[in-house]
Amino acid sequence: MLVHIVDDNDTNLMLFEQIVRRVDAEVTIACYPDPLTALVDCSRQMADLVLLDYMMPGIDGHEYVRRMRAMPGARDVPIVMITAAADRFVRQTALELGVTDFLTKPVDPSEMRVRVTNLLALRRNHLRLRDQNRWLAEEVRHATRAVLEREEELIVRLAKAAEFRDPETGSHIVRMAHYSRLIACGLGLPDDLCQLIFKAAPMHDVGKLGTPDMILLKPGRLDDAEMEVMRRHPVIGHAILSGSSSHLIQLGAEIAITHHEKYDGTGYPYGIAGENIPISGRIVAVADVFDALTSRRPYKPAWEMERARLYVSDNIGLHFDPRCVEVFLAAWPEILDIRSRFADPVEPERSLV
Ligand SMILES: [Fe+2]
Ligand SMILES: [Fe+2]
Repeated sequence: MLVHIVDDNDTNLMLFEQIVRRVDAEVTIACYPDPLTALVDCSRQMADLVLLDYMMPGIDGHEYVRRMRAMPGARDVPIVMITAAADRFVRQTALELGVTDFLTKPVDPSEMRVRVTNLLALRRNHLRLRDQNRWLAEEVRHATRAVLEREEELIVRLAKAAEFRDPETGSHIVRMAHYSRLIACGLGLPDDLCQLIFKAAPMHDVGKLGTPDMILLKPGRLDDAEMEVMRRHPVIGHAILSGSSSHLIQLGAEIAITHHEKYDGTGYPYGIAGENIPISGRIVAVADVFDALTSRRPYKPAWEMERARLYVSDNIGLHFDPRCVEVFLAAWPEILDIRSRFADPVEPERSLV
């Protein structure tokens, strides 16, 4: 604990120091005949108790209190003002400025001792409580982070579960998540939303968990009836993910239900168009289609990057939101980089049996 004694009278300084020392031999005491020096020191290291003379050359006790209370961390430090006379106006103003207590000159040593004892005890309790609150806040932060991490892990595992049944590879969901974040950032969406889109995008096809293998793994083109079944996966994905209180899973549900909508309204399941499609769905549509085109699938080889880039730009305003395509094309070097960083492993033909 640090006690500041501020008084232009040296005799008073010595007397007050002796009194405080007798209260608690452990406290550090700093005596200041000059209030401005005391304020400078206080701004460097906050005192735990201040005994303050009112009448001083330079600045008076009122001005001292005003300047000290404006310092960070000074709000709860007890200040005892020592006044020569029971001047009501001086005390009233001092109270309004934030003085905690008063002592009248000539100071009664036993009264000063009691007040200093009480105020130091109060200050100790206050500091203990503040530390406890900080500790609790830190604990809550840790616990919240742990919950969020577990939530993200579950989502990754859910996406992996879907992937086990789907010919789309794990690298597909990693790449399309990166493309999605790139587009989101290029559109100038807030950073936390870009991150959320990055984490939610891999959930776009979890609805395929509900698609029969004979359709999901069919090597050739799907007929109309099969296509009809395949087109249920956005609704199934939404049913799996909706109703969560987690922002991330809510966004996953939104992406699942909207990622096959098209900007011109010819997509599915609802055929909504333009800005009626949530931005997350419009972003993921570009990222998902582009990566599907450049990936090998049971029914087609992987397209060259240039051919897929042309497809995307040919579909501005048709399949895709023009603004999303614009930022996607502007980020072409980064797209190529993502593509090469997360390339599919070269592996033998996947067995469909
Ligand atoms: Fe899909
Ligand atoms: Fe996909």
